[in-house]
Amino acid sequence: MNITVIGSGYVGTTTAVVLAALHHRVFGADIDSAKVAKLKQGILPFVEPGLDQLLAEMLKTGRLVFTDQIEAAIQASDIILIAVGTPPRPDGTADISFLMSAADTIAHSINGYKVIAVKSTVPVGTNRWLADYLSRKIGDPSLFDLVSNPEFLREGSALYDSFHPDRTVLGGISQRAIQLMKDAYKPLIGRLLVTDWETAELIKYASNSFLATKISFINEMARIADRAGADVTQVAKGMGMDRRIGTEFLQAGIGYGGSCFPKDVKALIATAKELGVGAEILETVERVNQTQSDLYLRKLTEALRGTAKEPWVIAVFGLTFKRDTDDQRESPAIRIVEQLLADCQEIRILDPTVEFPSQTPWPDERKVVVCQTVEEALSAADAAFLCTDWEMFATIDWGEAARCMRTPILVDGRNLYDPETIRAAGVRYLGLGRGGVP
Ligand code: UGA
Repeated sequence: MNITVIGSGYVGTTTAVVLAALHHRVFGADIDSAKVAKLKQGILPFVEPGLDQLLAEMLKTGRLVFTDQIEAAIQASDIILIAVGTPPRPDGTADISFLMSAADTIAHSINGYKVIAVKSTVPVGTNRWLADYLSRKIGDPSLFDLVSNPEFLREGSALYDSFHPDRTVLGGISQRAIQLMKDAYKPLIGRLLVTDWETAELIKYASNSFLATKISFINEMARIADRAGADVTQVAKGMGMDRRIGTEFLQAGIGYGGSCFPKDVKALIATAKELGVGAEILETVERVNQTQSDLYLRKLTEALRGTAKEPWVIAVFGLTFKRDTDDQRESPAIRIVEQLLADCQEIRILDPTVEFPSQTPWPDERKVVVCQTVEEALSAADAAFLCTDWEMFATIDWGEAARCMRTPILVDGRNLYDPETIRAAGVRYLGLGRGGVP
């Protein structure tokens, strides 16, 4: 099959590469010519384990082509997947202007029957609205069918998730279009759910919001465990042994970030309100997430006030919203650095994806220094704040760290370490809900 994927961002590029691996002829189409030029050379505009290798392989086969000639790609394709961004507006609603311009491009270039599938996360009701919009623009509704095809892959494990999907959701009213989509994904369809547009759209928001709820729930348990002297990692383990609950997304820490959970929870709250429905759970999920890093910061400043002279030198381990990605969008680490800046003489960032200050949100801030090694970051530091659980941080010799830090304090924002081991190394361990008499 010939398939165009409009939008060469994170989801679009991964999808294009994966579909080429399934032996389709794929056009990765984007209006950003500079991005297209890079992708043509096999250069990914983001970090994703394993994807660069498969991208190179697929480019070599000739089945995968990146282009800014979107009209030509559309005309040569049977299926058009729309994978453009839907960033949040200031009021929390999703901005669908990129989706609309993709729709306009499709409408003026369409030259025969196509299946148009929306992979972008769009508010409930968008696909129905879009089908109507395209019908009016194209003038002949028989030239296309619209399918809602939400994406569930995660940054950092995008290839694994794409090749081992828990489910494929296809929303629409045309059996012909659903069948074509099934054919396109054939070897990858595990559990398939065919629904109407609105249901498919809501499945996406409900899934992300539920996972965000699990995280805020366990973060609230961490707060309770902290006061009660219980260990939240063991609470999560014990909860996860119940198959009805499951083990995943119960890691307490400084909160969720990224380009999806914060945006999607806000957008679902906005949708609920538009529909006249209360969104009490979702509002609380968001509130818990927004205040979670404050609790760690409070512990840190209390500990520092007693032992170290201001202004402090703090090593911040990890700037990305999670490991194995270079994505810093809505990263709790950013908020933490912002809040520390006023009281600090220096903030030393160490992150495997950050080499220069220009790769941080503070390119001109003298207080923010980018380090290349653990030793450099910890030397004479007053504290280390672990924000992202990159593998390189798991193997730090904290005994050595205790000797080179000015005041050996570690804030474990991801529950990466065993508190006893850190204490035995001579470092004061600060976590939330990590057991012991409070
Ligand atoms: C999320 C969903 O997991 C994907 O299924 C979905 O396709 C994607 O959003 C999307 O809508 O595009 P992603 O944002 O890549 O994927 O990252 P996650 O692995 O879900 O992590 C999100 C945030 O939650 C991270 O900041 C992570 O550190 C945090 N998290 C995750 C926790 O704090 N605790 C956990 O137990 C799990």
